Amino acid sequence: MIITIASLKGGVGKTTSSINLAYYFATRKPKRKTILVDGDPNRTAIDWVESAVKPWPFEVYSGEDDLPESVVTIIDTAARTDGEQLQMVIDLADMVVIPTKPDAPDLRATMAMAETLRDAGKPYRVLLTGIPPRGRKLFDEAAAMLADNNLLVFDTGIRQLAIYRRAGFEGLPVAMVGADGKAAFEDYQKIGKQIQQVVK
Ligand SMILES: Nc1ncnc2c1ncn2[C@@H]1O[C@H](COP(=O)(O)OP(=O)(O)O)[C@@H](O)[C@H]1O
Ligand SMILES: [Mg+2]
Repeated sequence: MIITIASLKGGVGKTTSSINLAYYFATRKPKRKTILVDGDPNRTAIDWVESAVKPWPFEVYSGEDDLPESVVTIIDTAARTDGEQLQMVIDLADMVVIPTKPDAPDLRATMAMAETLRDAGKPYRVLLTGIPPRGRKLFDEAAAMLADNNLLVFDTGIRQLAIYRRAGFEGLPVAMVGADGKAAFEDYQKIGKQIQQVVK
């Protein structure tokens, strides 16, 4: 199963989502061989692993590497992916995850992808990330706006939590960080389960 994480914008949580979803598939029971492919020329995901203070539960490869056989492959994509690159990564994937913040510019960029996604005929879901505290209404409004534009959205979103920055500094999936990591990770666990339901 190949899951591509893509968006037309940077800073929306693509790398964070790739790492934490790879963690989900690598650690859920029964365990599945999972690899993360860093398709970002800035090598953000690879830098994470190299700065990690603990061993990682999955391997990370660059787009140029020869890839091993894996059961689940998560592909993180570049900060700015143009239309042609987007088409290529969609073609490769069994499912596409599109992280988006609940802000007007991000939502607009995501709605601009709607046609490409529909034409591709691949399963996809928009993932609302960085939902602020008491942001339930914001989540509902953003999800409704996307749905009005005929886009499919995950039922739940990712909360904006300071622990993600700490995870970045420590180079770890959020579940492996401190005492609060496991609770934060529940957001990505819910997304992982929805992905499994979409890609049977
Ligand atoms: N849910 C979140 N809450 C708080 N900060 C987050 C969250 N997701 C990502 N971040 C932070 O936002 C920044 C951009 O995230 P990143 O995953 O690198 O985005 P992208 O790969 O789309 O450019 C990083 O500093 C990351 O730690
Ligand atoms: Mg990134």
